[in-house]
Amino acid sequence: MKNRTLKLILAAVILIGMQTFAQEAQPIPEVEALLKKMTLEEKIGQLNLLTPGGGVATGSVVSKNVEEKIKAGNVGGLFGVTGPDKIRQAQEIAVKNTRLGIPLLIGSDIIHGYKTTFPIPLGLSSSWDMELIEKTAQIAAKEATADGINWNFSPMVDIARDPRWGRISEGAGEDPYLGSAIAKAMVTGYQQEDLTEENTMISTVKHFALYGAAEGGRDYNTTDMSRVKMFNEYLPPYKAAIDAGAESVMSSFNDVDGVPASGNKWLLTHLLREQWGFEGFVVSDYTSVNEMIAHGLGDLQAVSALSINAGLDMDMVGEGFLTTLKKSVDEGKVSEATITNACRRILEAKYKLGLFDDPYKYSDSKRPERDILTAANKEIARDAARKSFVLLKNENKTLPLDKTAKIALIGPLANNKNNMLGTWAPTGDPQLSTPIFEGLKNVAPNAEISYTKGANISNDTAYAKKINVFGPRIEISEATPETLLEEALQNAETADVVVAVVGEATEMSGESSSRTDITIPESQKTLIQELVKIGKPVVLVLMSGRPLDITEELALPVSILQVWHPGIQAGNAVADVLFGDYNPSGKLTASWPQNVGQIPVYHSMKTTGRPAPSAEFLKFKSQYLDTPNAPALAFGYGLSYTTFEYSNLKLSSKSIGQNEDVTVMVDVTNTGAYDGTEVVQLYIHDVVRSITPPMRTLKGFQKVSLKQGETKTVELTLKAEDLKFYNGSLEFISEPGEFEVFVGGDSNASLKETFILN
Ligand code: BGC
Repeated sequence: MKNRTLKLILAAVILIGMQTFAQEAQPIPEVEALLKKMTLEEKIGQLNLLTPGGGVATGSVVSKNVEEKIKAGNVGGLFGVTGPDKIRQAQEIAVKNTRLGIPLLIGSDIIHGYKTTFPIPLGLSSSWDMELIEKTAQIAAKEATADGINWNFSPMVDIARDPRWGRISEGAGEDPYLGSAIAKAMVTGYQQEDLTEENTMISTVKHFALYGAAEGGRDYNTTDMSRVKMFNEYLPPYKAAIDAGAESVMSSFNDVDGVPASGNKWLLTHLLREQWGFEGFVVSDYTSVNEMIAHGLGDLQAVSALSINAGLDMDMVGEGFLTTLKKSVDEGKVSEATITNACRRILEAKYKLGLFDDPYKYSDSKRPERDILTAANKEIARDAARKSFVLLKNENKTLPLDKTAKIALIGPLANNKNNMLGTWAPTGDPQLSTPIFEGLKNVAPNAEISYTKGANISNDTAYAKKINVFGPRIEISEATPETLLEEALQNAETADVVVAVVGEATEMSGESSSRTDITIPESQKTLIQELVKIGKPVVLVLMSGRPLDITEELALPVSILQVWHPGIQAGNAVADVLFGDYNPSGKLTASWPQNVGQIPVYHSMKTTGRPAPSAEFLKFKSQYLDTPNAPALAFGYGLSYTTFEYSNLKLSSKSIGQNEDVTVMVDVTNTGAYDGTEVVQLYIHDVVRSITPPMRTLKGFQKVSLKQGETKTVELTLKAEDLKFYNGSLEFISEPGEFEVFVGGDSNASLKETFILN
């Protein structure tokens, strides 16, 4: 009897467990059959991703003797190789020269477009346009697969709240709600419904996890945070990408709870697979397995064993798996079953792509001409760029400009191709981009435009050398800075309006490009200040891969249009906005600080126990002596040529039960002189809860287009799930009590309503 009860309890526990944890994946018979034929060495061979270094290598090593290694069955995938013919050759080596003829995964970093380069991801996120973002990913997949690639190392969904970190440019900014929506859009764009289609490729969500929280914003630095913060603020976008079906995950370089992600079993197995139900494969970041030696976790054999036992399936470039796993199996440090599991996941990915049916399905030499850099793709790039721009200031309504104006076009980025694509566009060709000068002439052929450089991006040759690793991004003119300035001032004197294109070079953001000073470089600051003194209206077209500290420029009588690095259609898109053919609608997705000392500053900060009630200094409140708490430019902020007014905020109910939704309605009116598009944003504040709530968090948004004078009622649904958070025991729950709802055009939205959750 006793025994039977025990068995019943056990069965119940197992059943409950099955409900909480994801269902086991169904085995794929073809893959199982293949696995049965494989030797241990052949299985280990599949776990290696090599690069011959043809592309841009992001580590200090590249793989040697790649062809021999493929023939020896030591390679599961390649990256840095493109073009249908080359890929066919590589597949032939694998298929015809190895015992089992297993084709290769062909990876690449396609971060913001393949050859049709779109704006950098931080820029794209500022469009708040999920359809557009999905479309850009879909086009990237179509172009990349035409060139032989079947696996993309994108999207990067790391939440970033430190603009010193150069890779903030590669993600969607500071917010997990928006970040999750973008993660989903990108994965869907790359993978679509069916991976066996020739136009789709495997998407990799990266960098799992917390890479964006590097201490001090220094790339590759340590991260450390509480689980509560992790679950509420940093993990949601990875989870959203996995829920959207991402087939692959890349482990990050950094520590998570003191163990680097690539060797972290809690992260790669317990959380990712057991709790989230991920069934795809995990690839390391570039040599991140080997880097655990430098982290202090042992020698190559030890860190490789740690990684595979933690749940990492594929070793990028490091060859630690290749050279040590057999030994670890012999010594009983790694089980053969663990290797088989990792190998199974990689074979399953190949199977899902249809590579076993046709290893050459991405090697159609007719496709590149048909699918890459088409006029339609470039049109989307232009649209994506103008939708990514954020109007930060419009002094005396200088913008839009008259198409017959006399324009002094000035600045080191004004007639420049090398910095238009932005960081991490190694598959794009900067020489195909439209410089701003050309774009202005295209869009306003009757304007009188004279160009002078005015300043170097930086005058510092040592600095320029660091930036110019992938090409001449900072070119220091032979002319002295004084001469450059003088020429520009003369140009400005005779013009109706000055357009100064200034900011960062492409590689001043991105990987390994952290800055401690995030102002506009000194040479250009001087140029701006001197131009203002001429007394003509000045428009700054500002390029950067991060939020900058532009406190000084904001205080000048200038207009500022933030254009990030706009991509292949840079000039045309900038001209569309400057001349009013497109009314800017972008909104910031990361707060812009007043200065670096304020970092981190983001919209969902907590009040603390000593909230500072105003910008005025009050002793013993949570404040700085020398800077207010608010950022210079808030999350969600961005102007238009028109103005919008919000009114009549209403909720469908003032009191709801658990699991009920609330409909939030607001009237938005275009009160200005142009048709325009607004990003309506919804924030909530959970007034009392068991862990301290953020002041406000984004929980909804909608883009709405309004003609002059038009009013629309916008409806946003606050779902029951939107009220939930991870409590101190990491349970995802909502707690009864009052909620405040704010709706408006940025994170300072003042229209407010409240409701009670019972
Ligand atoms: C980066 C990854 C990238 C990989 C391969 C690494 O250095 O962190 O984002 O996918 O290189 O290029």
